[in-house]
Amino acid sequence: MSTVDPQALFTFSYGLYIVSTLWEDTMNGQVADAVMQLTADPIAIGACLHKGNYTAELLAKSKKFSVSVFSEEVPLPFIGNFGFRSGREHDKFAKCNYKVTELGLPIVTEYTVAAVEAEVVDIVDVQTHRLFIGMVKSAQVLAEGNPLTYADYHKIKKGKSHVNAPSSVFNSLK
Ligand SMILES: Cc1cc2nc3c(=O)[nH]c(=O)nc-3n(C[C@H](O)[C@H](O)[C@H](O)COP(=O)(O)O)c2cc1C
Repeated sequence: MSTVDPQALFTFSYGLYIVSTLWEDTMNGQVADAVMQLTADPIAIGACLHKGNYTAELLAKSKKFSVSVFSEEVPLPFIGNFGFRSGREHDKFAKCNYKVTELGLPIVTEYTVAAVEAEVVDIVDVQTHRLFIGMVKSAQVLAEGNPLTYADYHKIKKGKSHVNAPSSVFNSLK
């Protein structure tokens, strides 16, 4: 019989991002570590979002999203605004600096090092989550500095995983 050792999954490496979208007059974003580049030419990226998240609900309709990459300087409360609150109750973008992309999407311009935006070409149902696959339409470097890794979020910033993160099993390992 096979066994699952969560410690094995803890060896996977991730960054930490804000995935944002705009649907009609509503902009919203959420923290996600489950974001990655999928192909190089053309460039495709994927973001895996919990079905209950407001961002996933809006993104399923707008079919476009931006990804802002956190820098290692980001304070925990800044992450918490996007990662532990829902846009259903809070206007997250009222609490940060942002600018609007070519596709009309918000990208966060403080405590971030880069941003990309993509148009969705496929949405894959993954049980509790939806994997949004998008073709990158623009990408820009916003500031010098190092991107925050998910490992440093845990080790240095002592941050917690959210129950809606695919990697939430990490909490039980601490
Ligand atoms: C460190 C961290 C990593 C997270 N990673 C993910 C993720 O990869 N996918 C996901 O769906 N939610 C993830 N979350 C949870 C969402 O950010 C959280 O549920 C958020 O409140 C959703 O906001 P919304 O309802 O406004 O979309 C993460 C949260 C934190 C703090």
